[in-house]
Amino acid sequence: MGNIFAGKNIVVGVCGSIAAFKVAGWVSDLAKLEAQVSVVMTAAAGRFVTPLTFAALSGNEVHSDMFADRGQERMDHIGLGRDADALLIAPASANTIAALAAGLAGDLLQTTVLASRAPVVLCPAMNSRMYRHPATQANLDRLRHFGYTILDPDSGMMACREEGEGRLPEWEMVREYLARVLSPPQLVGRKVVVSAGPTREPLDPARFLSNRSSGKMGYALARAAFRRGAEVVLVSGPTALSAPAGVRRVPVQTAEEMAVAVLAAAADADVVIKAAAVADFRPAETSREKVKKERIAATLQLARNRDILRELGERKAAGQILVGFAAESADFLAEGQRKLAAKNLDLIAVNDIGGTGSGFEVDSNQVLLVSRTGQESLPQTSKEHTAEMIIDRVVALLAGASPGGVVPGSGCQV
Ligand SMILES: Cc1cc2nc3c(=O)[nH]c(=O)nc-3n(C[C@H](O)[C@H](O)[C@H](O)COP(=O)(O)O)c2cc1C
Repeated sequence: MGNIFAGKNIVVGVCGSIAAFKVAGWVSDLAKLEAQVSVVMTAAAGRFVTPLTFAALSGNEVHSDMFADRGQERMDHIGLGRDADALLIAPASANTIAALAAGLAGDLLQTTVLASRAPVVLCPAMNSRMYRHPATQANLDRLRHFGYTILDPDSGMMACREEGEGRLPEWEMVREYLARVLSPPQLVGRKVVVSAGPTREPLDPARFLSNRSSGKMGYALARAAFRRGAEVVLVSGPTALSAPAGVRRVPVQTAEEMAVAVLAAAADADVVIKAAAVADFRPAETSREKVKKERIAATLQLARNRDILRELGERKAAGQILVGFAAESADFLAEGQRKLAAKNLDLIAVNDIGGTGSGFEVDSNQVLLVSRTGQESLPQTSKEHTAEMIIDRVVALLAGASPGGVVPGSGCQV
């Protein structure tokens, strides 16, 4: 699965809010992502931003007048919603939220929503007292009951110079929810636990042992699982990455903290994917105070950390899918098969950390997938695309099938 937005018909409904100008940037991004964007503006929205702005950025005519004469062939008030793959209502005003909750069809945006069966993502934006009013909250509950995805507004300073919740969320967050409603809902009702990033094993408050993992592969897997509808817990060592939208991130530092967090989250998980690069060893002793350099011995005493993957394999419940990662520089297939069996895994992704286009700190990856039924060499591609392909195999494993394309004895090069 490549760009989920390409070729999708997305109706963006813009209401009369001071935040309407922000959505111009969102429409521009959707058009760059090759979506077909139809903007529907309420009359009040036109008081804040001109239709010309949205027309220029979407590359399409903007719709606002339900009674515009378009001839008998076209009826925008039905057609826009009927042909949509998804509806994004942003900013959603208190007024339009109330109208939608009541099932009104008083303007083009309202009729479009009523006539549509496509998923709706709605971003309320308003003064925080308007947002917190029981009427608005009851209306939003009703829209949730209709199955609409309602994004919580951000908090902060508002245009009305009041602090509080009611600001439009960041586009990166909204885009992920939109991607989720456009993606196949194969993991709805499933809990997926992903571990990512390195661990840090402290020598003292200033120094630690760690590794080169950036966390990018694990974060891409968490995002891909979220897009397919899963509830995702991301147990993450220290990385420079921001938390993916909709994912519960549990930050940890050491291998021991990682073990405790992953094993707790995994207890009721349907899928556990261990993409973290957990340190195998830690300093045998950790000093509470910074050790003077003159007192550091030339040889460091190490203690072995727990093998989290092995413990997960031992505790694996019936039906749970356990996926491991192995960073190797040689003997990829043999190592993958050995670890798969030794740790009771369903799938292992063997990473070539010797290559230039895969492994640590780079955006691309090339992995060899080894399952109980065979092996498959994935092409060198982005970590996002690799994550999508791994999630495809996880979906097949959950369905009881052998992971698609993994053919016994097929050639492999990593
Ligand atoms: C300067 C200004 C800013 C406004 N900002 C918002 C807002 O952020 N959210 C909101 O719900 N209403 C806001 N309103 C009120 C709406 O524009 C008004 O309720 C309008 O009827 C909404 O119509 P619509 O839902 O058809 O777009 C604002 C009004 C003004 C004058």
